Amino acid sequence: MRIVKVPLGNRSYAIKIGAGLLSRLGNECVRLKLGNRCAIITDTNVGRRCARPAFDSLAKAGFSPSLIILSPGEATKRPKSASICYDRLAEHRLERQSFIVALGGGVVGDLAGFVAATYLRGITFVQVPTTLLAQVDSSVGGKVGVNLKAGKNLVGAFHQPRLVLCDLDTLRTLPEREYRAGLAEVIKYGIIYDAALFTLIERDLLKLLRRDPKTLGDVIARCCEIKAEVVARDETESGRRAILNFGHTIGHALEASSHYGKYLHGEAIAIGQVAAAKLSARVLGLSAREVERVSDLFERADLPTGANLNASQRQRLLAAMRLDKKVSGGETNFVLAKKIGRVVWGQRVPDSFIAPALNPQLSTLN
Ligand SMILES: NC(=O)c1ccc[n+]([C@@H]2O[C@H](COP(=O)([O-])OP(=O)(O)OC[C@H]3O[C@@H](n4cnc5c(N)ncnc54)[C@H](O)[C@@H]3O)[C@@H](O)[C@H]2O)c1
Ligand SMILES: [Zn+2]
Repeated sequence: MRIVKVPLGNRSYAIKIGAGLLSRLGNECVRLKLGNRCAIITDTNVGRRCARPAFDSLAKAGFSPSLIILSPGEATKRPKSASICYDRLAEHRLERQSFIVALGGGVVGDLAGFVAATYLRGITFVQVPTTLLAQVDSSVGGKVGVNLKAGKNLVGAFHQPRLVLCDLDTLRTLPEREYRAGLAEVIKYGIIYDAALFTLIERDLLKLLRRDPKTLGDVIARCCEIKAEVVARDETESGRRAILNFGHTIGHALEASSHYGKYLHGEAIAIGQVAAAKLSARVLGLSAREVERVSDLFERADLPTGANLNASQRQRLLAAMRLDKKVSGGETNFVLAKKIGRVVWGQRVPDSFIAPALNPQLSTLN
């Protein structure tokens, strides 16, 4: 088992990464000295496979768990679901010392974390992420929340978990497309922070695609370390944490302008990262060779690297970017790369650069 510490003073916590951790959930919670009652929040896909082991592990360790199983998918991450959870927690008489276990992908993690942040003005929660995206990204950092009709993540809080348990075995049943989408976030950590990680992913991509546990454990641990470091320096997103948004300005706009139907988040940010690499060449002089390495790696991971947009789709994309808080006066703030492993934030890019950077036919721009 690998352990990564997230150093946040009296809210510090550990991320534990390894095989077979789900069956140790109960004992891990005993070590945290939590109250007796708890609730596992999950969705039907994950619940079918993981709810029983999680429940049994908690019960065997002396806890009194209840189980809340929601429908899978982004639509579940809304205030109505939080309200259903509150009622169930109250029925089960959860109190201040009680805790919530978020068992699932980022949807469950964000929702259950938000419920934990708000029920009785905040109770403890433990993250048990079961998608690659959740293990390397959403379960770490304490951002929790739900969507409104007007947009994603519009209601939320910062609420750190007390423990994150990444059981590598749970990833075995993750659908291939979801898994590859998670790899887009993994590659991101190499680009923004760690050239050696990027090179390692280039070398071991086939092992990663096979979900080889040793490679996966090493890579997930390194990604968590990077996220922990970035978050520890900027817990509430005033500056440095922005580097985690590499590829996300365009990625989010692509997701929003296609009404969250066409692309998974990881696919949209794969396109966004390749575009950001091309913009980095144009604005910061990132070398053509490094743009190519970025583009090639996403391509080898079978992720999209560009989008052929017609005029009206281009308009919609720019409009979506303008709604984003990163825009001011016809220019958008981007995170751009100086080289692989080193990025800078707050780079202003004119709107006219965006569409050419998305063009799959153009590998680099001069
Ligand atoms: N809080 C943060 O910092 C943060 C960061 C990034 C993303 N997010 C949020 O995360 C969410 C996306 O998370 P996601 O990509 O994990 O999606 P998800 O939670 O919807 O999971 C994807 C699909 O995989 C299924 N699934 C999950 N684990 C499985 C397993 N082990 N085996 C089989 N099926 C499984 C789920 O039921 C779902 O159908 C978005 O709402 C996004 O806003 C939050
Ligand atoms: Zn992301």
